[in-house]
Amino acid sequence: MLSESPILIRTTHLDSQLQERLEWFLRQPGCNWTLARSEKGDQPELTITRRGVFLLNGSERIAFHPSMAVIRLMNLLRGGYDRYLDATQLKDGDSLIDATLGLGTDTLIGAWAVGKSGKVQAIEKSPILAAIVQDGLRHFSKIIPGSISKDKQDTWYALTQASQRIKVYWGEHRDYLSCIPDNSVDVVYFDPMFRNTCKKSDSIQPLHSWSNHSPLEHKSILEACRIARRRVVLKERKNSSEFQRLGFEILLGGKYSPVDYGVIII
Ligand SMILES: C[S@@+](CC[C@H](N)C(=O)[O-])C[C@H]1O[C@@H](n2cnc3c(N)ncnc32)[C@H](O)[C@@H]1O
Repeated sequence: MLSESPILIRTTHLDSQLQERLEWFLRQPGCNWTLARSEKGDQPELTITRRGVFLLNGSERIAFHPSMAVIRLMNLLRGGYDRYLDATQLKDGDSLIDATLGLGTDTLIGAWAVGKSGKVQAIEKSPILAAIVQDGLRHFSKIIPGSISKDKQDTWYALTQASQRIKVYWGEHRDYLSCIPDNSVDVVYFDPMFRNTCKKSDSIQPLHSWSNHSPLEHKSILEACRIARRRVVLKERKNSSEFQRLGFEILLGGKYSPVDYGVIII
């Protein structure tokens, strides 16, 4: 995981809003920032612009953007089906812990599904990813594109509401879950970096250098089963031996999809 190495940080302008955003990043735990004072070097660099924030590492670029969540939610609002929601069975008023936030796509769909009275906590081990996604959620309304169709407007509106329900925590999910009381959340969800990847998906590809690749621990699953009232869900590569190793029953479906969902029903 690259997150421990120093990361340059800069704003493109001296506006007070950008400076506040920079101060916010500097306060985030676990990140090792160095204020960038000269031209770009070969270190990873986080740039805060009037149009958003991005992290560059060589040719790799990471920015928070809910692109896949927009497509998935638009499909759901048209009455479509979503395998993640089928696996998690999230409904209005539920509480969800997403133990592997990543870039927050699944968390956003979960936050939409649980509605106004629901609760979503999301944990990410990489401090820089946790900070970038949290910043993106805090400034969600600023990335809504202008002049879009009614369909898209409704989707962005729903996602903006959902984004405000998500609480992001930086840390190891095992430790976080171990502090939560028994039977106190409806669903716990895990989408770890896959054990074996043939072809990395476009949405996950930029995460590779920054994310934690360790296998899921039994201890984390035991903690999830202790705190979950209804189900624990795992997303993994199709035919992954992780389902069996960790005690998940694979759900049928997604015949042509490279991933499967497994559940432990409590
Ligand atoms: C495949 S990505 C998740 C993608 C996410 N579901 C989405 O929709 O964007 C897995 C993420 O889980 C994080 N992760 C892996 N192990 C973790 C752990 N033990 N505790 C917290 N986060 C972890 C990784 O750093 C990575 O960002």
